[in-house]
Amino acid sequence: MAPPPQSVSLSLRRRKPVMLLSPAELLLMMLLLILVFFNTFGLSQNLIEYLPGFPGKLPFKFETGYIGVGENEEVQLFYYFIESESNPETDPLVLWHTGGPGCSCLFGIRNNIGPLIFDYSNSSASEPTLMLNKYAWTKVVNIIFLDQPVGAGFSYAKTSKAYYSNDTLSATLNYEFLKKWLINHPTYVDNPLYIGGDSYTGIIVPLVVNEVYNGIEAGRKPLLNMKGYILANPLTDQYSDNNGQILYAHRLGLLSDRLYQSAKENCHGNYINVDSKNVLCLSDLEKINQCLAKINFDQILEPQCEPSRKGKQDVLSRQISSYDRENPMD
Ligand SMILES: *[C@@H]1O[C@H](CO)[C@@H](O)[C@H](O)[C@H]1NC(C)=O
Ligand SMILES: *[C@@H]1O[C@H](CO)[C@@H](O)[C@H](O)[C@H]1NC(C)=O
Repeated sequence: MAPPPQSVSLSLRRRKPVMLLSPAELLLMMLLLILVFFNTFGLSQNLIEYLPGFPGKLPFKFETGYIGVGENEEVQLFYYFIESESNPETDPLVLWHTGGPGCSCLFGIRNNIGPLIFDYSNSSASEPTLMLNKYAWTKVVNIIFLDQPVGAGFSYAKTSKAYYSNDTLSATLNYEFLKKWLINHPTYVDNPLYIGGDSYTGIIVPLVVNEVYNGIEAGRKPLLNMKGYILANPLTDQYSDNNGQILYAHRLGLLSDRLYQSAKENCHGNYINVDSKNVLCLSDLEKINQCLAKINFDQILEPQCEPSRKGKQDVLSRQISSYDRENPMD
């Protein structure tokens, strides 16, 4: 029998294993890299009209580019800008961050909210085919997808020192990026502005928003028309995020009232830092673990079908000491 765990982690949501790129994705990355290469040595921004794997001209305005930020603009942040397919002049502008920290925002474009997705049934390993995402947010909003922090995606630094990053610094640089982007694209300055992101950027987005409001209060130009922010599936606070998952599971009907009440009393509402002598609490957590073992953590309505996820599902035996930086997620 294994000894009872000293600290437990309960993760009902997010936390994907590091994703290795499929050959098709790799090819797309390489093709985009070629575009980036021409970007770097030519204009700082490029209009993309055609993409390999997509039949015909793209039915939306797609721009990529770099903007230099920080000391001597040594940090070069890469972005993809996709214009709204409705009324780009008046539709909201969204600055979107993808999590990790350190995932390319290509993930946000082709897996979350962007206009293109892989047409898997028509793709081969060597030839990816793209199709339109009918649920794309870009049907109604303009989105800047930002590769951040420096080192993520195609963003890079000109000196090794400038590769240093932390959350507050990257938020400051993302804010600087936004201002410079709007100076380069003045027609969007008056559009309602939203700042959003998912997963790890639950930490970054509020910091950027704070910078934006400080800038507005200080009257810094361009004056941003800030309207709100979006946190999708965010990481906010390690303890409350994880501890709240028991309450969440109960509310969703995955745990009985009896088991939930018992655990709440025996564990005194703290399911993370459990005293190893508190056998009543540990026993309740073990039962909870059994109840949740077959649940797909990322989407409880979906079947638990990925074999690679097995083992990661054991909520009780997973420790949270090695956190996101060592285990990047989406
Ligand atoms: C795959 O491509 C063919 C030919 O272009 C098309 O007729 C078919 O609808 C596509 N299949 C899917 C699932 O999109
Ligand atoms: C983040 O980086 C900045 C700039 O180098 C530095 O001033 C700050 O102390 C760093 N913050 C942390 C928490 O390390």
